[in-house]
Amino acid sequence: MPDRIDLRSDTVTVPTPAMRRAMAEADVGDDQYGEDPSVNRLQDEVATLLGTEAALFLPTGTMANQVALRSLTRPGDDVLVPTESHLVLHETGAGAANAGVQFSVIGAAGTYDGDGVRAAIKPAGHIVYPPTTLLVTENTHNRAGGIVFPPEDLADALAVAREHALAAYLDGARLLNAAIASARPARELSAGFDLIGISLSKGLGCPAGSMLAGSRDVIGRAHRYRRMAGGAMRQAGILAAAGSHALANHVGRLADDHDNARLLATELLRGDDVELDPATVQTNIVLFHLVERRGVPDAVTFVERCRDRGVLLNAFGPRTVRAVTHLDVTAEQCRAAAGVMRAVADGR
Ligand SMILES: Cc1ncc(COP(=O)(O)O)c(C=O)c1O
Repeated sequence: MPDRIDLRSDTVTVPTPAMRRAMAEADVGDDQYGEDPSVNRLQDEVATLLGTEAALFLPTGTMANQVALRSLTRPGDDVLVPTESHLVLHETGAGAANAGVQFSVIGAAGTYDGDGVRAAIKPAGHIVYPPTTLLVTENTHNRAGGIVFPPEDLADALAVAREHALAAYLDGARLLNAAIASARPARELSAGFDLIGISLSKGLGCPAGSMLAGSRDVIGRAHRYRRMAGGAMRQAGILAAAGSHALANHVGRLADDHDNARLLATELLRGDDVELDPATVQTNIVLFHLVERRGVPDAVTFVERCRDRGVLLNAFGPRTVRAVTHLDVTAEQCRAAAGVMRAVADGR
């Protein structure tokens, strides 16, 4: 275990020895001919997990999101997204460049309800409005602090989307965190979406890989756009084997990451230099604000000083910081990290 405690993201994990063995022993073939048994197996496993007809392996979650946009929209379409979505803020403008869509932000704090969706839909066939064709959900929501989308609001929003013939895409990079936190099967949380993206390289601890799942028809379209994006790989079974290993071994343990996030939040709240709503700490992300007071550093300074003391974090706003728990940090390390963070926030 390295000396530094890396809470920047759940993407920083390295494969476990058992995962490396599964990768080394993977049966492989040319996936562009559909001949990689490990990729085929993982795609079947994810389709079963999410209750869809088919699934597709992609190198990254960003590509999964971009391929989803291409598969479900046409250039000029209007896409409804939650506040601070990954699609809008963390993909360097790809949605506009690749799919040619425009985004309308709805709701607050990463969620919305049916009324919010209804109010934002532009009337179909109008001479000036762009046609609204897609609703996007991010569950859990990264920049809202890893919250789980409230199930009633989601059901309501999806019903309105269906009523207006909108497609629905779930950016479920951390959907399995949401499933574990709410003690519900992932397929229940993904029901009603035309396409679902999940990440293997976050809480699940894989070195790379994301999946899209949906009907055979929609996955067929996604297959083409994956190729267009340069994401069709060859002996990708080496990576897919890590995914199958993670699905078999690393899902239940996400609860430990959630416990550690709560521990971190509780320890941080022992000081009075940090504002944090414990109700938002539902999964593995702790988002907190440094209070506006003499001696309490801003987020960039805070992150730099914590780094000097071996604790790695990300600044998410002028006074907002994000910490993420994962496979490679223990409860003891979270406690130690909170001690460093409290001292730095206090100007010590
Ligand atoms: C909600 C969400 N969607 C998509 C992605 C993109 O995943 P990747 O880093 O594999 O491109 C991330 C990554 O942090 C994310 O948090």
